[in-house]
Amino acid sequence: AIPVIAIDGPTASGKGTVAQRVAQTLGFHYLDSGALYRIVGLACLRSHVDFSDMAAVTAHAIAIAPRFVCGRVLLGDEDISKEIRTEEVGTAASLAAQIPSVRDALFELQRRERRQPGLVADGRDMGSVIFPDACLKVFLTASVETRARRRYKQLIEKGIDVKLDALVSEMAERDRRDMQRTHAPLVPAEGAKILDSSCLTIQETVVKILHWYDQ
Ligand code: CDP
Repeated sequence: AIPVIAIDGPTASGKGTVAQRVAQTLGFHYLDSGALYRIVGLACLRSHVDFSDMAAVTAHAIAIAPRFVCGRVLLGDEDISKEIRTEEVGTAASLAAQIPSVRDALFELQRRERRQPGLVADGRDMGSVIFPDACLKVFLTASVETRARRRYKQLIEKGIDVKLDALVSEMAERDRRDMQRTHAPLVPAEGAKILDSSCLTIQETVVKILHWYDQ
């Protein structure tokens, strides 16, 4: 079977950077599943869809499918890579992600990314729902303070203006929603190795995961 490394965890745990570096080192493909939910969130915000209107939100999820090519999402000719990174879109993504039919609409899209020579998949349910047979499952976490500081730095560097205290409460709220939802809640998958990166650098975290993969 084509190897999959599933890396799940709460917001700003460093998953994105860590997963990309692991993929790069191994020459594997990389799946940023959160980007898919963010695109759906952005599409809903733009069209002023009410997040309680499950059918309308699901229609947006179904519509993005044909534009997801080799791990990159295109919205027409528009580059939305910066816009999808705001906390507003993160919150919209998490509202959309609560709807089971939205998750179903994105299921095959994610499964398709499992290609030779292997895949590193980053998200909330990679090890539990999308790739339950992943050869390595990591649940990457860090303290709320560490995660808030990391996210703050990341957003400021991208030129996105944000206030630290607002960020902390938005992140906490989003984590709570992700953990408490009934469909694919954010919890460590069965057999997942828990890795707290609060006191680790990105590189140390990457090395740890590569070491587990080699075992
Ligand atoms: O970058 P960050 O970790 O903050 O968020 P993300 O990975 O881009 O995901 C944004 C939101 O999408 C999350 O808060 C989840 O609600 C949702 N999501 C999900 O439900 N399942 C996934 N596999 C990935 C993201």
